[in-house]
Amino acid sequence: MNKLLPLQAQYIVVGNPINHSKSPAIHSLFAHQTRQQLIYRAQLFPLDSFSDGVDRFIKIGGLGMNITVPFKQQAFAKADVLSSSAALAGAVNTLSFKTDGIYGENTDGVGLVKDLTVNNRVPIKDQDILIIGAGGAVRGVLEPIIAQQPKSITIANRTIAKAHDLADVFEHLFQIKVCEFSQLPDNYNIVINGTSSSLNGELPAIPKLGFNDQTIFYDMMYSKEITLFNQWGIELGIGRTFDGLGMLVEQAAEAFRIWRGVSPDTKYIISQIRSQL
Ligand code: ATR
Repeated sequence: MNKLLPLQAQYIVVGNPINHSKSPAIHSLFAHQTRQQLIYRAQLFPLDSFSDGVDRFIKIGGLGMNITVPFKQQAFAKADVLSSSAALAGAVNTLSFKTDGIYGENTDGVGLVKDLTVNNRVPIKDQDILIIGAGGAVRGVLEPIIAQQPKSITIANRTIAKAHDLADVFEHLFQIKVCEFSQLPDNYNIVINGTSSSLNGELPAIPKLGFNDQTIFYDMMYSKEITLFNQWGIELGIGRTFDGLGMLVEQAAEAFRIWRGVSPDTKYIISQIRSQL
């Protein structure tokens, strides 16, 4: 008699496009390291059928899903229960399918904070933080940054109204300052680039930036070579630069922890993924 093999736990990352995703490689390394039996693969979802795709994956026994562009808002709408950072982000990058419903979380901010404070030993507490950009990427990370109790947060954005909108969303938690690119005051400890300008090979048009040799630049983008934004920081003479590869691995590690109850050791995995860029 044929014995049925136990079903492997199944996870996917969905997006459109999706073939660039590093999540399958990262989660395979996590699974191997923590000796978890699971399948994690990338799946292209058609632009008009996110919700149906989720339902189909649940039907075949899928346990969890990571969500990338352009579906994070639809994943937010699909969740029955939201974590506080997902609720404030208005976006979900991690869904867990449980018997009592669909749970939505946003692990991007935890990933950024962990990469800065643990991997790179850059405290956020009591620091003056400048965030450039006011799109979905920035909204997704603000709650965990605020939870670190920085001294101040300033958001500067090309379209100033969007920065004001973001400050309003988080008003009940923190008094975020808003600033035009042309009027940035001096001396931030940490400057975070949350714009997508480098996708077009551009830098945010900031005429002047106060800095000293202790200032830290964190670019949420990453690349094989130093990012354009971090290169600019080095030319300005700032202290240290980090790119978003650590954040990418840490947001995945947080999703893995949510699903599997184990936290992978990310140090080796960040270096593995970097060597594959
Ligand atoms: P994401 O989800 O990546 O945040 P988004 O919501 O489209 O994408 O936001 C992109 C962010 O990058 C915005 O803050 C955008 O500025 P605007 O709000 O003024 O559009 C910013 N951005 C993109 N290209 C830029 C550029 N060349 N210079 C400055 N900011 C730029």
